Amino acid sequence: MNSSNNAWLKEHNTVHLMHPMQDPKSLKDNLPVIIESGEGVHITDVDGRRFLDLQGGLWCVNVGYGRKEIVDAVSEQMQKLAYYSLFPGSTNPAAIALSQKLIEITAPEGMVKVSFGLGGSDAVESALKIARQYWKLEGQSDKYKFISLYNGYHGLNFGGMSACGGVAWRSSYEPLMPGFIQVEGPHLYRNPFTQDPEELVEICAQLMERQIEIQGAHTIAAIIAEPIQGAGGVIVPPASYWPRLRQIADKYNILLIADEVITGLGRSGSLFGARGWGVKPDIMCLAKGISSGYVPLSATLINQRVASAWERDAGFTSVYMHGYTYSGHPVSCAAGLAAIDIVLRENLAENAAVVGEYFRERLLELKGKHRAIGDVRGKGLMIAIELVKDRQTKEPFGPDEAYPLAISEGCVNSGVMLRTIVNKLIISPPLTFTKDNVDEVIEVLDRTFIANPW
Ligand SMILES: Cc1ncc(COP(=O)(O)O)c(C=O)c1O
Repeated sequence: MNSSNNAWLKEHNTVHLMHPMQDPKSLKDNLPVIIESGEGVHITDVDGRRFLDLQGGLWCVNVGYGRKEIVDAVSEQMQKLAYYSLFPGSTNPAAIALSQKLIEITAPEGMVKVSFGLGGSDAVESALKIARQYWKLEGQSDKYKFISLYNGYHGLNFGGMSACGGVAWRSSYEPLMPGFIQVEGPHLYRNPFTQDPEELVEICAQLMERQIEIQGAHTIAAIIAEPIQGAGGVIVPPASYWPRLRQIADKYNILLIADEVITGLGRSGSLFGARGWGVKPDIMCLAKGISSGYVPLSATLINQRVASAWERDAGFTSVYMHGYTYSGHPVSCAAGLAAIDIVLRENLAENAAVVGEYFRERLLELKGKHRAIGDVRGKGLMIAIELVKDRQTKEPFGPDEAYPLAISEGCVNSGVMLRTIVNKLIISPPLTFTKDNVDEVIEVLDRTFIANPW
């Protein structure tokens, strides 16, 4: 292999490499950008083209690229101890330290224990298994079902995928796990009910309650949802929705799982998405921003109510029969500690709130100029621009239509790395983004829409 030979890389990208969420055939004609290096909010490809990274890797590089603190922490940890496990009989200092740190920063949510994994799908899987085991330990093993939302994304392992609320993520792998039910969540731009946010919250809350009653509350383990839906198209619920979810969970004695894989560690403009809604979940799933994508890492956190089920002596059933070889990997945990330290020290949640607000204002100016922009929505530095064929009917561009790709490709060719999800342009840059970076993006988007009129 000569990986420094660009032609070789381009030729071989698809020979043996399966890319997530893509038809392998399509990659032959559409060569993806081969990213080679990163610095701050910029990335560079193998041809030396430099881009502003509007994707933040994949919603994850919260602190930006090339942060020496993380590199040093990883290097020191590797030199000292490359690996030791958390399985019976051993542990390691980095995992202990990171668990303490996570509990410290989630004190307002009342979290008390941490289970580590390597990515968002692990974090969700752990949450689902903890919820089921919790109810067994409580002597209510009939409570095994999960309710999630349409458009929700919870990773692609079988448990999380079964909670996903979109056909594209599910259909090729059915049958999925039994006991997973989806209900309508409040999507203000696209719903068949109303354009009034409060009325919509009430309707969705009622739909949730009806589903719980039809299933029987005695069969429901947990509600799982994202504080802001990400992969579903950056769907921001009205502020009263999450407090209503908490009320419903309490009313029916159901656990509430916040899937904070994207929203956690600052992206939504508060340190955690549920905190931004003033809600304390029972279980929190963290990944992506926890290590800023530098190494694979995730964590599932539980509050005292959930943890207390394991405090009683229930014999073998209270063994937490879950975890991976790399749960609490010392190198990942060292990176996590350094990444979290930067997020806190540089107050990146606050920067995401301020710069995100400015970004949306500027995007709304573009909406005034370009007809294809149907909606601009987001919170903090997670934003979507939804493209439509007609603003009145809101008819979206379909998955096979070229227009959204023409826009994102136009941006990429002008130095802005931008990803589309069907008809949505997704904006999730590093949280170190500045207003000047935003102005640069706006200029590129404006020029691209002008060059591609609809
Ligand atoms: C909310 C949410 N949960 C879970 C996941 C799965 O994470 P991973 O791809 O790291 O397994 C994602 C990934 O984007 C996500 O956005």
